[in-house]
Amino acid sequence: MQAAHSSPGRPSLAQSASERLSVRVLTIIPTYNEIESLPRTVARLRAAVPEADILVVDDSSPDGTGEWADDMASRDERIHVMHRAGKEGLGAAYIAGFRYALENGYDVIVEHDADGSHQPEQLPRLLKAVEDGADLAIGSRWVPGGKIVNWPLSRKLISRGGSFYSRVMLGMPLRDITAGYRAYRRRALEALDFDEIESVGYGFQVDMTFRMHKLGMKIVEVPITFIERELGTSKMSGDIVREAMVNVTRWGAGERLGQAKRLGQGLSERVRQARRR
Ligand code: GDD
Ligand code: MN
Repeated sequence: MQAAHSSPGRPSLAQSASERLSVRVLTIIPTYNEIESLPRTVARLRAAVPEADILVVDDSSPDGTGEWADDMASRDERIHVMHRAGKEGLGAAYIAGFRYALENGYDVIVEHDADGSHQPEQLPRLLKAVEDGADLAIGSRWVPGGKIVNWPLSRKLISRGGSFYSRVMLGMPLRDITAGYRAYRRRALEALDFDEIESVGYGFQVDMTFRMHKLGMKIVEVPITFIERELGTSKMSGDIVREAMVNVTRWGAGERLGQAKRLGQGLSERVRQARRR
């Protein structure tokens, strides 16, 4: 790789003097009624990773989140805002953000909640994992060193259960499959057909992980501390959990069917060969 000097918009993530990797990072923050949390999250992100651009994807929050973001964007060229007509779910917001990132030439694309659950100060860990070769770096709560602060047992069980079910059904050796703090290498998103992705909630994260896995992308889990929001309200719902369960079961069954078909084809091929002999 050719040596490049860092300049505004082309930060160097690599610390090694020998090879300076020059990349453009976009942190996507989807928002729906996050006026209490977004200002602090944006300020912390700008301080922790000043070289990264920010894209707020707001679904016309009635509480003025979008207007606040517009005002910030007018004063900080690293902040961008996308306004969407109505609340269409986190998955749809991220896909709109991914399209923006690819159109605008970003190299690394980050998913980041607005509500303080994801700590901007831990973003360099995810970026480092991508720099070290990951196509997808997952900020994981369920690997050694990973933590959760302020979650009731019930929510922990849903999270662990969801990851366990997905791991077994989909055959992926990962611990935190629903995690929402992630960094994607550009080529990983380029390999996707966004029109195929319909999931809305947790299921969106599982969907994305499964697609990355099937594409043979390198997925790395990095321990993070997830802190449950103190302000505002979660948009998670029973429907979102159900959607994820139904989809994972469907995808898992599809996988098994595919495996069985391949096995069957392999067997009949062997029978044919044996007959020929
Ligand atoms: N634009 C937009 N539209 N943003 C949304 C929508 C929507 O319909 N729904 C939620 N968001 C935003 C929130 O404003 C917040 O910034 C972020 O998405 C996460 O929403 P929460 O409601 O706080 O989600 P959570 O804490 O329950 O879920 C988090 O953890 C899950 C795993 O435990 C997220 O990171 C999930 O992606 C993750 O699966
Ligand atoms: Mn949250």
